[in-house]
Amino acid sequence: MIKRTLLLALLTVAVGATAVADKGMWLPSLISSRIKDMRSKGFRLTAEDIYSINKASLKDAVVLFDGGCTGEIVSPEGLLLTNHHCGYDAIQALSSVDHDYLTDGYWAKSRSGELPCKGLQVAILVRMEDITDRLAGGESAEAIVAAAKAEGKGYAAAVEQMYYGNEQYLFVYRVFDDVRLVGTPPSSIGKFGGDTDNWIWPRHTGDFSVFRIYASPDNEPAAYSKANVPYRPARHFEISTRGVGEGDFTMIYGFPGNTQEYITSDAVDYIANLSDPVKIALRTERLDIIREAQQRDAKVRIQYAAKHATIANAWKKWQGEVLGIRRLGTLDKKRAYEARFAAENPSQAFLLDSLHAAYERNITGYYLRELFNETLRAIEMPQMVRFAMAARDHERKRTVAAEFYKNYDAGIDRAIARRMMSEFVRLAPEGTVPDALSALFAAHGGAEAYADYLYDNSSMTTFDGLVGGDASADAAAEFVAAVEPLYEHASRYAYRNLSNVPDIERWYRPYVKALMEWDRERAFFPDANLTLRVAYGKVAGYEYADGEYHRPQTTLEGIIAKDNPDIYDYDIPQSLRDVYSSKQYGRWGIDLDSRRTVPVCFIATNHTTGGNSGSPVLNGRGELIGINFDRTWLSTMSDVEFDEDMCRNIIVDIRYVLFVIDRIGGAGYLLDEMRLK
Ligand code: ARG
Ligand code: GLU
Repeated sequence: MIKRTLLLALLTVAVGATAVADKGMWLPSLISSRIKDMRSKGFRLTAEDIYSINKASLKDAVVLFDGGCTGEIVSPEGLLLTNHHCGYDAIQALSSVDHDYLTDGYWAKSRSGELPCKGLQVAILVRMEDITDRLAGGESAEAIVAAAKAEGKGYAAAVEQMYYGNEQYLFVYRVFDDVRLVGTPPSSIGKFGGDTDNWIWPRHTGDFSVFRIYASPDNEPAAYSKANVPYRPARHFEISTRGVGEGDFTMIYGFPGNTQEYITSDAVDYIANLSDPVKIALRTERLDIIREAQQRDAKVRIQYAAKHATIANAWKKWQGEVLGIRRLGTLDKKRAYEARFAAENPSQAFLLDSLHAAYERNITGYYLRELFNETLRAIEMPQMVRFAMAARDHERKRTVAAEFYKNYDAGIDRAIARRMMSEFVRLAPEGTVPDALSALFAAHGGAEAYADYLYDNSSMTTFDGLVGGDASADAAAEFVAAVEPLYEHASRYAYRNLSNVPDIERWYRPYVKALMEWDRERAFFPDANLTLRVAYGKVAGYEYADGEYHRPQTTLEGIIAKDNPDIYDYDIPQSLRDVYSSKQYGRWGIDLDSRRTVPVCFIATNHTTGGNSGSPVLNGRGELIGINFDRTWLSTMSDVEFDEDMCRNIIVDIRYVLFVIDRIGGAGYLLDEMRLK
């Protein structure tokens, strides 16, 4: 016993002394500073292979997909992979009752069957440049951006802050407007497990869809045209079909959206003890109302499926975040860190006081914005009325209204209004309920009674009512006017996070700078802000609970075990059942634990966040081994603190993607243009 403990202690010390944690989201242009660590962990390529402005590099095969996800180019003819949930809107927009691609899936039989997706854009990074000195030297950001945009056809450019503005980077992109749907599995594969399994490991979702980028005949970005041809990328990913094993190096290349690695204890306190808990409780109420209605009525189940998924996604994430922050003791750790900083940097200690004072000034305002968004703004009908009152273009009003009322149930909305109006009053900080709103509630006997009055008297709960009637004369117009000050308030506080409110953020600039000078051991990476990043780590299981180890790979057996035609989230297509019974897996079969099966998903220690959905996950040779799509919910605190023991990103194994394309989709011809190794 003692010996074993001692050995463990020694091991821990040894590991602690040599290994650098797998955390961080690194700017590709600076990846040379990480290359030694990456190579010691199994990476075989060079920094220039990852990012180069002189030659084609892996960055040329990564795209920002639809402004919020990532995708990867996998053929010399612009074939693109991303998640099913990232392609969802485009697939939905192409679907109709006769062609329900969400339910049935879709595979283009030839190039002419590839379906243009109106409004869908992908952006490829041309280059990034540290322009901190140029800006300090007096150049204007607008002029730099304008010059960059003029460099080429379809160019877009933006300046982004790193380390709260201590550094500024220019990002130059080529934006492609002609993107077409090539194929998608049915939702019963692409969304298998649905909300039940969302943020959960073990996982069995085939969360992928296939698109193609088109360009003008001279290979430039161009608006949709029949004359366009498949884009010929500077670089595409090669695909490894050899699979992965526990401990193997993995790297992820994509567009993470938002992390807050350097926030102080005040901000952690706000997240874990106020913001998240309140939002979770409010969404629990909304979800209960929706779910109950869905169980009673099959039509409502479909109407509210996407809304339920969106509400539940963050709801579940926040719960994991709160648990994770508590488990790691992040708040106490931050406090101790700040105390040490103040003690060792007496001349800088005022920065923490200034930050603290700035939070005191802004927390109520930011909280009110979040509360408003989660309560009064979550009531749907008045939102439509407000939109209709402002709409100038009648045709657009009709289109938006048609889309809205298709998936609207006034009974649900009324029930939500009753709850959310009273919750707003209960939770609003002193003096923040607008007088006009208090007066409305008082005149009708309270918030709930007022909600009933509103839904009894409004004629805006139907398409005809809204399009044929006069929104500004409706009962709801009174409500909209009463909450208008809250809309204005919310827009004044519409920053990415509480800590990005300018009055707070300006103190982070000197604080983070001081941290970087003081804390020499720490590897500082700039917080995620939807710019291109590299994160790396390894394939790894984890201890989910005492004595409960979760292995890193799932297989087809797990899908079959969950399969149940009576459970919507687990009802797989018959074709998958058939392939399973025949065991005709073709080249995609593997032997695992002495059975023949197909790999489905795996997990790794890559530091990821929202926006990394669809990101290419690569092996040490830079070959594609999977597509990132999620994290385990107990690890979502990695947006604030990354913990190597617990944090895992979830990836659909590229071999499952290929298996589904080939064996289920019958679109094996797509594999001919890929390079499989
Ligand atoms: N949790 C993943 C993400 O944050 C997947 C969300 C889509 N899937 C779902 N079942 N709602 O975006
Ligand atoms: N599903 C997320 C997305 O859409 C990625 C999961 C995460 O937050 O890690 O980007």
